[in-house]
Amino acid sequence: EEARAIVIQQDASLPQPKTIKIRSAKESRDVRVKVFGWVHRLRRQGRVLMFVVLRDGTGYLQCVFNDQLCQTYDAVTLATEATICVYGVIKSLPEGKTAPDGHEMVVDYWELIGASPAGGADNLLNEESGVDVMLDNRHMLIRGDNMSKMLKLRSVLIKAFRDHYYDRGYFEITPPTLVQTQVEGGATLFKLDYFGQEAYLTQSSQLYLETATPAVGDCYCIAQSYRAEQSRTRRHLAEYTHIEGECPFVTFEELLDRIEDLIVDVAQRVMDSPFAHLVTDLNPNFKVPKKPFKRMDYTDAIKYLKEHNITKDDGTFYEFGDDIPEAPERKMTDEINEPIMLCRFPAEIKSFYMPRTKEDNRLTESVDVLMPNVGEIVGGSMRTWKYEELVDGFKKNNLPLEPYYWYLDLRKYGSCPHGGYGLGLERYLTWLANRQHIRDCTIYPRFVDRCRP
Ligand code: 4AD
Repeated sequence: EEARAIVIQQDASLPQPKTIKIRSAKESRDVRVKVFGWVHRLRRQGRVLMFVVLRDGTGYLQCVFNDQLCQTYDAVTLATEATICVYGVIKSLPEGKTAPDGHEMVVDYWELIGASPAGGADNLLNEESGVDVMLDNRHMLIRGDNMSKMLKLRSVLIKAFRDHYYDRGYFEITPPTLVQTQVEGGATLFKLDYFGQEAYLTQSSQLYLETATPAVGDCYCIAQSYRAEQSRTRRHLAEYTHIEGECPFVTFEELLDRIEDLIVDVAQRVMDSPFAHLVTDLNPNFKVPKKPFKRMDYTDAIKYLKEHNITKDDGTFYEFGDDIPEAPERKMTDEINEPIMLCRFPAEIKSFYMPRTKEDNRLTESVDVLMPNVGEIVGGSMRTWKYEELVDGFKKNNLPLEPYYWYLDLRKYGSCPHGGYGLGLERYLTWLANRQHIRDCTIYPRFVDRCRP
């Protein structure tokens, strides 16, 4: 009741404030400014002092409220995550006091814009929240320090990819994700009803990129891909951002060089950007990897697993022809502890479009790039470019030709040796930011039984 009676007014004799974002607070010290934001932290000291850390997406600003400013109804009911507008002067802090950027705003007037319920963000999330509560309230979780850093880093990273491709002369393609063809096997297809016809959410835009190479040459896309993965793992999502590249007239060796160049150059661009601190905050030990990466054949990986006693669950060894699952792959990668380009997988465990090697007809010109702490971040290969061989690949995989008529036409009208790859953006981020779980690298993760928020 007492608080309700207190009304604050702006002192008309004070200079008109300039509205600033917190990122430019340092250059705007010692003059009167106005800042909008969310109440990130709130601490009251007795009745006449209140500290607010304000957040506006560009930074954090400590604000001090004195006397009547913290006695109004809005002030005594203020809670974290409310939106406010503060007026005042930002002053550097004396020795011994700490706040973000070494300064604080002495508030002379403020307004509540959007209230937050008593208790603030703690109503929905607190230290005791379990995994499911955190996922249900992810729209609040992303306002936190780590998740907001991750979202920003993701944005910086996407720009680095685009800059890389632009610099190397690639054109960007924006393919549709509603398709009627599969790329990586029927087991992980999401089916849907498309005006009465069967269609799928795309697993990869590779086939469309291949069709674009005769039109624009080297090209790439950054598009969503979908996999109905039944298992919950630390590195699988049902929807992810897929960065794919396709290059006409390259050899397998040249393709490997390009993939390596992409991974290293993009990391270097991020570290050379004004946002390198996002990486070092999340992953203090990050170092841009050196080229060339270790190159290893699938056949040698099978040998490695034997020699290092990495076995299947039943204690037997992996043999030629076996798919190397996540666990042994991780073990090997973490032991070797440097990027590995794992090459030349057997045709039986790879996709219909992969050509055989000249040296060994059982093997394909394929590559997986494995990174310590994550495992596979890139899958790529040369593409079968001879019509008959491709038709053979379709037959061996029991795929109908009709829906792929346009893909087959590529092999009739000026075919050429070409290759490409797909890189999982969230996998790259898991590696770059050294996260435990791929879910931490996307705003609203999709996986079995989770489709909200
Ligand atoms: O190895 P994949 O299945 O290869 C392809 O889709 C090719 N058609 C790409 C191409 O050549 N254009 O997937 C490529 C990459 C993987 O290395 C991984 O980084 C990511 O996509 N990926 C996933 N990321 C998160 N969740 C999943 N369920 C993923 N499946 C693949």
